[in-house]
Amino acid sequence: MAKYLSGFGNEHATEAKAGTLPHGQNSPQRVPHGLYAEQLTGSPFTAPRARNLRSWLYRIRPSVVHKPFAPYAHGTLQSPPFTDDAVSPNQLRWSPAPLATGQVDWVDSLFTVAGNGDVYGWSGLAVHMYNASVGMKDRYFYNADGELLIVPQHGGLTLRTELGVLDIKPTEIAVIPRGIKFAVDLPDGKARGYVAENYGSPLTLPDLGPIGANGLANPRDFLTPVAAYEDKDGTFELVAKFGGNVWTTPLNHSPLDVVAWHGNYAPYKYDLTLFNTMNTVSFDHPDPSIFTVLTSQADTHGTANLDFVIFPPRWMVAEDTFRPPYFHRNLMSEFMGLIYGIYDGKEGGGFEPGGFSIHNCMSAHGPDAAVFEKASAADLKPHKIEGTLAFMFESKYIFKPTAQALALVGLQGDYHTCWQGLKKHFKG
Ligand SMILES: [Fe+2]
Repeated sequence: MAKYLSGFGNEHATEAKAGTLPHGQNSPQRVPHGLYAEQLTGSPFTAPRARNLRSWLYRIRPSVVHKPFAPYAHGTLQSPPFTDDAVSPNQLRWSPAPLATGQVDWVDSLFTVAGNGDVYGWSGLAVHMYNASVGMKDRYFYNADGELLIVPQHGGLTLRTELGVLDIKPTEIAVIPRGIKFAVDLPDGKARGYVAENYGSPLTLPDLGPIGANGLANPRDFLTPVAAYEDKDGTFELVAKFGGNVWTTPLNHSPLDVVAWHGNYAPYKYDLTLFNTMNTVSFDHPDPSIFTVLTSQADTHGTANLDFVIFPPRWMVAEDTFRPPYFHRNLMSEFMGLIYGIYDGKEGGGFEPGGFSIHNCMSAHGPDAAVFEKASAADLKPHKIEGTLAFMFESKYIFKPTAQALALVGLQGDYHTCWQGLKKHFKG
């Protein structure tokens, strides 16, 4: 059973074996129990203190003990820009892929569906789907290009990381910071879900402004694992994503050999059902930024490289209001996914758990015709939206779908028809 430390971005100190964490200094001449000291930074050394990220790892062997990396023929894990093909302004939606058949582990199953920005410029993100049927056996992965926000949709995951073990299930998320090595086990068998690979600034909690000191995702609900290690010699593989490509190197030991660590650069998990949802108690439909769980800020203040936004169960009480999401055209681009249930903007079907949609900059979208007619005539009593959890990756950058995503049988060529039934009601 995984154990956790509470708090967002906190300085933690944890040891899996008593007496292995040095006291009062980071790199003593001799680390207790013959361990090696290694620093892992997630920010420039000179980043302001509030954004400075680093951890000190005390491990059986330093990470540098490996053979040269060689290219790894992954095939479906890609980095933007994908092709020179034009991105259309069309609304795009995909049905979910069937659960995996055959033997495929988490890292090999990663299938890039969209992305933006630039791996080399620390901007944008890629969105991948995973669809795995077996655990990662004697192989490990790290991503030098970005941190990984993992959103399970079907089946749980056990993430064995350098800094400890995270168990997550659908309705929970995990974030693996850039560079941290991990392996994925599948405690429930097959597992499917979404991954945002964030090339920009690390995800953090949004400011709350007039909301005050509490609300949305509360810091104490973010959980970081206690130290746990594997002391295993043998034949192992380390897969790395670096510079937009995938690489591999053999190891003669498990790289999850960190016996103790301290610092604030660490993986974490969060239970989305603990999100303290805010909403209107008078009229109108607030912008979805009110549902922001985590944000990766871009250099322009108030502009997101990536906002992770959820649409959780909540009461709807607005008076004299069209309650579902309004029709809109936004500057920011949207990638949406559905963890379970029915999203309140698309009750007419077609947006299914495990599926996804892209509504890019200034591309018009909103409720389908069925939702519009129903909501316009609804008796506006207090009503609780239940049994659903959708989410959005929102970005200042246009999402470019990959050619392999556009070739999926799940791409819905008829998506636009959900709005064609919207009638003219104007009577002049
Ligand atoms: Fe939207």
